[in-house]
Amino acid sequence: MKAGLPAHEVTTAHLGAAYPFMVCPGFGGEGIYIGRDLLGGAFTFDPFILYTRGVLTNANMVVIGQIGRGKSSFVKSFLWRNAVFGRQAWVVDPKGEYGPLAHAWGVEPLILRPGGSVRLNPLDGTGMEDSERRQVELLSALGAACLRRDLLPTEHAAAQLALRAAAASSMNRPTIPGVVAALLAPSVEAARSIHTDVDTLTVMGRDLGLEMRRLVEGDLRGMFDGETSPGIDLLSPLVVLDLSAVYSSPALGVLMTCATAWLTAVLSSCPSRSDSESVAGPVAPQRLVVVDEAWAILSNLGVARWLQASWKLSRSFGVANMAVLHRLSDLRSAGAAGSEQVSLAQGLLSDSETRIVYAQSPGEVEACRELIGVTATEAGLLPRLRRGVALWKIGGRSFIVEHRLGRAEEQIVDTDARMRAVATSPAAHPVPDGRSE
Ligand SMILES: Nc1ncnc2c1ncn2[C@@H]1O[C@H](COP(=O)(O)OP(=O)(O)OP(=O)(O)O)[C@@H](O)[C@H]1O
Ligand SMILES: [Mg+2]
Repeated sequence: MKAGLPAHEVTTAHLGAAYPFMVCPGFGGEGIYIGRDLLGGAFTFDPFILYTRGVLTNANMVVIGQIGRGKSSFVKSFLWRNAVFGRQAWVVDPKGEYGPLAHAWGVEPLILRPGGSVRLNPLDGTGMEDSERRQVELLSALGAACLRRDLLPTEHAAAQLALRAAAASSMNRPTIPGVVAALLAPSVEAARSIHTDVDTLTVMGRDLGLEMRRLVEGDLRGMFDGETSPGIDLLSPLVVLDLSAVYSSPALGVLMTCATAWLTAVLSSCPSRSDSESVAGPVAPQRLVVVDEAWAILSNLGVARWLQASWKLSRSFGVANMAVLHRLSDLRSAGAAGSEQVSLAQGLLSDSETRIVYAQSPGEVEACRELIGVTATEAGLLPRLRRGVALWKIGGRSFIVEHRLGRAEEQIVDTDARMRAVATSPAAHPVPDGRSE
C-alpha cells in the first residue's frame, strides 16, 4: 500500500539525529576477514592496505586486554590469514604458545633456553650505515634493563668503547661476551680516546659489565652469548622465538629485549621471499613482527624507549609491529618520572594507530580514555566485553568486533586445553577412598 506521504530529503548529519541507528562504514571489503562488526556486517582489516591508502600513518598495532580474553588467539589467526597474502611473520613468544601455529605452517619454533642449542646474537649487524649507533642504543637499553636504572653518561661512554673494541677484535661482528670482556678489561687505547686512564675506564664500565656478565657466564648463558647459530631459515614464512624456558625468570625482560633486538637487526638486513621471487626487481617486503606479553619489556623505560625508536625505523622495512599487553598501565614503568611514563605511553600509542582493546577492568578504563580517546559510551562497554570481542580504534574510527575463529584455527589458538585437562583428569578429582572418580 502506498503511504501517500511526500518523500523527505535530509543530509546524513541531520538524519543521524533523527535516526540514530547508523554506524560507521567499514573500510570496504578489501583486507583480511576478522569477524563480525557487532554494529554492521563482516569486518575486514589490513594495516598494509590502509597505510598505502593513507588511512593510517603507520601499520603498527597494540592489542590490550585482560587475561584470557583472546588477544593471542586474535594475533595467531591474524598471522595465519596474512600468510595467504605471502606475508612473513616473526614472533617473540615468551609463553611458548605459538608452536601449533608454527607446526601448521610446517616450521619448528626456535627454542631458546639456558645452555640450549640455539644462540642469537643481538648485536648482529644491520648492514646499514648507522649500525654502530643502533648497537650502542641497544646496549644502553640492555644495560638499563640489567641495572634497573638509566645508564650514567660514563657508563654510556664505556659501553660505546667496549662495543668498538669487541667489533675490532672480531672482524666487525661484536658479540655480548666481547663487549663484557672489553667493559671489564678496557684497553689503554680506549681509555686514551676519552682522555682518561685504564683504571678510571674500568670503574666506569664495571657495574654494567658485571650485570651483563649474567648473559655470558651466569644463569642466563647459552642464548645470546655468541654468534648466531647457523642454519636458521630467515625466509621461513614464520619465525617463532620461544622463550618459555625462561618465562618465570626475573630477567625475562632482558631476554625478550635480546630476542627482539636480534629480530629487528636481522629484519633490516635480510631479503624477503618476495625479493627472491621477483622478476621485476625488489618488491617491498611485508612482514608482521609480534611481541606477545610485551609488558615484560615495556616495564623498563630504557627498553621501551629503544623499542619505540626501532618501531619508527621498521616502517622503512615494510614491517607492521604488534605488541600485546594486559593493560595500558603496563606502559608506565616503575620508578620513572610520571610525565615521562605518560609521554612514553603516548609515544608508543601514536606509533601504533590501530589499538585493539579487549575487556578491561573498571580501574583501567580511565587510562583508555586518557591515552586512546575512548568515548564515554565505549568506556562503559569495555569492562563488559566478552571473550573474543574487542573495541577497535583505527585512526579516528571505532568498531566493536567479534573475532571469529575457523575450525582449523581453533586447534591452533587453544590455550585453555591444559585447564580443561586438569579439570577433567581423573587424577585431579581423587575420591576419599583413594580411587579416582
Ligand atoms: N574469538 C574467540 N572465540 C572463541 N574462543 C576464543 C576466541 N578467542 C580466544 N578464544 C579461546 O580463549 C582462550 C584464551 O585465549 P588467548 O590465549 O588468546 O587469551 P589471551 O588474552 O592471550 O590470554 P593471556 O592474557 O593469558 O595471554 C583460548 O583457549 C581460545 O581458544
Ligand atoms: Mg596471550
